[in-house]
Order: sequence, then structure tokens, then C-alpha cells
Amino acid sequence: MFDLETIRADFPILSRQVNGRPLVYLDNGASAQKPRAVIEAVTRAYAEEYANVHRGLHYLSNLATDKYEAVRGTIARFLKAPHEDEIVFTSGTTEGINLVSYGWAAPRMAPGDEIVLSVLEHHANIVPWHFLRERQGVVLRWVEPEADGSLDPERVLAAVGPRTRLIAVTQMSNVLGTIVDVAAICAGARARGVPVLVDGSQAAVHMPIDLGAIGCDFYAVTGHKLYGPSGSGAIWIARDRQAEMRPFLGGGDMIREVTREGVSYADPPMKFEAGTPGIVQQIGLGVALDYLMALGMENVARHEAALRDYAQARLAGLNWLNVQGSAPDRGAIFSFTLQGAAHAHDISTVLDKRGIAVRAGTHCAMPLMQHLGMGATCRASFALYNTPAEVDALCDALEFCHDLFG
Ligand code: ALA
Repeated sequence: MFDLETIRADFPILSRQVNGRPLVYLDNGASAQKPRAVIEAVTRAYAEEYANVHRGLHYLSNLATDKYEAVRGTIARFLKAPHEDEIVFTSGTTEGINLVSYGWAAPRMAPGDEIVLSVLEHHANIVPWHFLRERQGVVLRWVEPEADGSLDPERVLAAVGPRTRLIAVTQMSNVLGTIVDVAAICAGARARGVPVLVDGSQAAVHMPIDLGAIGCDFYAVTGHKLYGPSGSGAIWIARDRQAEMRPFLGGGDMIREVTREGVSYADPPMKFEAGTPGIVQQIGLGVALDYLMALGMENVARHEAALRDYAQARLAGLNWLNVQGSAPDRGAIFSFTLQGAAHAHDISTVLDKRGIAVRAGTHCAMPLMQHLGMGATCRASFALYNTPAEVDALCDALEFCHDLFG
């Protein structure tokens, strides 16, 4: 059941004002707001159910462990992952991709080995690979997007050579909203024997994900964009890839035995989860994913597609606005500048004065911004609780900016 008014009432922050105006929150690509169910679950976990996990034999520790571990199954269901033990808890996508870089890629790659990645990537799916370039002489092969901002799977596969050890690619650009056909990339990569890491940070928020259908080896998500707490997240790692990995962080919880002479490790996924984890954060993420699954990700996608179409049509009517990217398959994320001298930061400041929150800058995607020839853009990124009236509010505010700066 997808009733927008009921959904908006589930998110307490949406009823507040900012700068004397009703909040219009269009910075969901950076982080999404939290439904009351998540806020209450986090409060309850701290107020009534908190202890460390996996370690105690007392009531609260067992309770917290049960609640925390149940989230693995929730994430597996949300992503349609084949096995629950393939879900590794992380603090977010950045940690997940670094885990793969340090734990899987670093021990396997020699100087001259190659990683194929697209120019659409977020820094979280770039910098961990630059580490391997700097430290081990790994070569990064960049794939350019098409003129409309789409990414042609054939172009990605054409970059694969005899030394390619990994393809690392986003499923949705956080700047342009471009949706990437990662299943086609994975099918071609599998035929060539090359593993694929998919950055699902943006995509998993906006569409149903079926890991079996995608066919990748690694799939990273972050909880704070999925309406869960910051510091929560997970990476799905196929069992055969887990078997090839060494641990990244060492410490408590990830070991079987430690002696003065050596250490043996717990079985995956705990082998990759050192130290006290984000217990309450992950419990909150589980509640957020239950909330999304109750709404139905197909319904979320349908609502956002309608918003995207409406926003696209309205923004296209502002002929002094430069909207970046026009890929046919895209989500409700729009990056733009105003013709003339106004800087993206000035635009976002004026929008903020009208209660409208957008992001301005380079969006943790500098190679893409360089490709676009843009110093900075404003970005309006929509979520399941946004309305056509908020698209209108954005367009009215942009008209005001045009009058002010134009
Ligand atoms: N990755 C986040 C964004 O796109 C922070 O804004």
C-alpha cells in the first residue's frame, strides 16, 4: 500500500520548517530521512535492549545478538541474496569497497594487473582502487559514459583485457541518476572470467534488487541512504569470493583462536567483521528495510518514476537551466547549473532560504565532473516521500534564482 500522505506522516522531520518555510528535502542522494519506526527502534535498542553482541551469556547480550543477527537475513531478503552468510556488515559502502580492495584485490593483484571502472563512479568506488595503483602498480582502465550520461555495457566489456582482474561499477550515478545495466556487464564479465563489484549505494534505494539476476560477485549498500541510521550498511560477497579473501581489519569477534604464536579466524562473514560493530545502527537498518519491503520496492520505483518524469518535464521548461545527462534509463536525480554567472553554491543558498535542501559541489564524483567540464553543480535527488508539489517548489525557487542572478 503506497499512500504518500501516510508515508510522509511516518517521517517526523518532514513536518518541520526550515528558514520559516516547510522543509522540501531534496538531498536524499546524500542521506535519506528516517521513518519513525527506525527512530523508535534505535531508541528502544538503547533504552531497553542494549549490550554488546556475540560475547555475553547474559540476557541482554543474547537479546541484542538475536536482534542484530536477524538483520543479516533481512538484508539478504531485501537484496534477494542467495545465502544469508554472504552478507557482511559494514559501516557503509565505503567500508565495504575498502574491504574488497584490501581483503580480496590487494593480495591477488600484481603490477600491471588492471581494474576496469567507469567515469560515473563515486569516490568510494575509485579511491580504494587508486590505493592499489599507488601501492602495487595496478592499472585503472576508465570507461567513458555516452554523451547522454548512459554507460554502454559493451564499452565496459571492451575495456576488459587479459590483465583485467576486476570490474568495479555503479548501478546508479549519484550525479546524473543514470541507471547502469549491471546484469549485462556481469554476464559479459562472467564469460571472460572477470569478477564484478557493483556499487549499489544509490540503486538499492530506488528499485528492487535481485542479486541472483544481476550475477555480480560483490554488491555494496549503505544504510543511511536506505532510510536507516548512518554507520550501518553491508556488502554481499559471494561465498567463493569470500573463500579467496583475507581479513581486512583485525581484532575481537573475527577470530577462532589467538595465541602468542598465531591466530585462526572465525568463519565468514564474521571473519570480516572485527571489533564491536554498529549494533544499534544495524538493528535500525533492519527496521528500515522491513519498512521498505512492506511498502514494496516496486511501488517505490513506480512512485519515483512518476516524480522523475514530472521533474524532468518541469525542469526542461526552464530553458536557462542546464540539466546534466539525459540517459533514457535514469532515476529521479538531477544535477544542474543556471546559465550565467551564478555559482551552484549560491543557488543552493538561495534555495535553502526557501526551505529547499539540495546538494551543491562535486558530489564525491570528481572524475565525472571533470568529464562533464563542470566545476560544480546543484543536485536535487528525490526519495519515496517526495511529492510533485515539491518539484513545483523547486522550480519556483529556481525561477526566483534566475530573476535574481540572470
Ligand atoms: N554519496 C553521497 C552523495 O552522493 C554523499 O551525496
